[in-house]
Amino acid sequence: GHHVSSQRVRFQRRIRACRYDIDQFTPNFLSIFDSLVPSEEEIAKQKQLLAALSRLINKEWPNSKLYLYGSCANSFGFSNSDIDLCLSIDNKEMSKVDIILKLAEILQAGNFQNIQALTRARVPIVKLMDQVTGLSCDICVNNLLAVVNTKLLRDYAQIDRRLRQLAFIVKHWAKSRRVNETYQGTLSSYAYVIMCIHLLQLRRILPCLQEMDATCNVTLDDNQCAYFDHVDKLKNYGAHNKETVSSLLWAFFHYWAYQHDYMQDVISIRTGRIISKHMKDWTRRVGNDRHLICIEDPFETSHDLGRVVDKFSIKILREEFERAANILQYDANPSVTLFEPYMP
Ligand code: CTP
Ligand code: MG
Repeated sequence: GHHVSSQRVRFQRRIRACRYDIDQFTPNFLSIFDSLVPSEEEIAKQKQLLAALSRLINKEWPNSKLYLYGSCANSFGFSNSDIDLCLSIDNKEMSKVDIILKLAEILQAGNFQNIQALTRARVPIVKLMDQVTGLSCDICVNNLLAVVNTKLLRDYAQIDRRLRQLAFIVKHWAKSRRVNETYQGTLSSYAYVIMCIHLLQLRRILPCLQEMDATCNVTLDDNQCAYFDHVDKLKNYGAHNKETVSSLLWAFFHYWAYQHDYMQDVISIRTGRIISKHMKDWTRRVGNDRHLICIEDPFETSHDLGRVVDKFSIKILREEFERAANILQYDANPSVTLFEPYMP
C-alpha cells in the first residue's frame, strides 16, 4: 500500500555513495582487529581445560563427549572470552536437569571453583572457574545444533579473511555501544556474525555453502544440517572482489541503517538471499516473537535470531546503525569514534 511505497522512496533517497577516502582507515581497523585476536597461548589454555574436563567427565560417563562451541570454536572469539562447552550424552534415565546437577557434583569433586548449576535458565548450564588456567566456562547438555552451527561459522571464516575482520569489528562496535545484550532486547554475537556472512554472500565474497552439494550432513531434532564443507577448495572464491574491510564496514552499516526493508525482508544465509517475511509467516507478533528485525537461523529455520528485539530495542538498534553509518561517511576519525562507549 501507500505506506510501504513511501517508505521505499525514503530508503532510496538515503542511499549514498561510499566515501571516496574510506580505504585510508583500513590499517587502523586492522590494528583494532589484531588487538582483539586471542593469543596462541590463550588458545592452548582453552584446549588444556577442555582436555582436563573431558578426562574428568569421561570417568563418570564413558560414552559422553565434550565439545567446544561458540566463540572459542567458531573463530570469532575475542581474547579473554568465556568458554562455551556442550556435553553430548545419551542417557535415557536422567532428565537434562538431573544431568546438570550430577555434572556439578562431578566438577566439585574434581576441584573446580565457583560451580553453579543454573537449572532454570532457558538453556540449563553449569558454570565454573578453573584455577589452573584462570578460565571460566559454561557447560550445556545435548545442544548439538549449536555445535554444528559453530562449525558452519568457522568454515565460512576460512574462505575469505575479510569475514573474520569485519565480524570482529562489528562485534567490538556492538559491545562498545551496548547493543550486544540479548537480555536487553539487542542482538547476540551469533546474529551479528550471520549478518556479516549475509553481506559478503550478496557481494560474492562468500558462497552459499548450504546451496552447494552437501559434503557433511546430520539431522538434529528434525532439522537437517547439510552443506559443502570442503572449504579449502574455496579459498579463491572472493578474490575477484577487492573491497577492503573499511568499505565492507561502510556497506554493512549503510545496509542496516538505510537499505534493509524492516517491513518485508528476512536475511537468510541458508539461501544466500533476502527472503520475504510473508513467505515465513513472520509478519505479525506470535507469542514473544515480534519479528521486528528478521534474521533466519541457518539450520533451525523457524528460529528468528531477531526475536529478542522489541519495540524499544529496535529503535535503539536502528539509531546505532545510523550513527555508525554516519560516522563511516563523515567522521575524521571513524576508527576511534565508532567505538566510543555508550553513555546512558
Ligand atoms: N547460539 C545459537 N542460537 C542463538 C544464539 C547462540 O545457536 N540464538 C549458539 C551458537 O552456536 C553460538 C553460541 O551459541 O556460536 C554462542 O553464542 P554467542 O554468545 O552469541 O556468541 P559467541 O560467539 O560466544 O560470542 P561472544 O564473544 O560475545 O561470547
Ligand atoms: Mg559466548
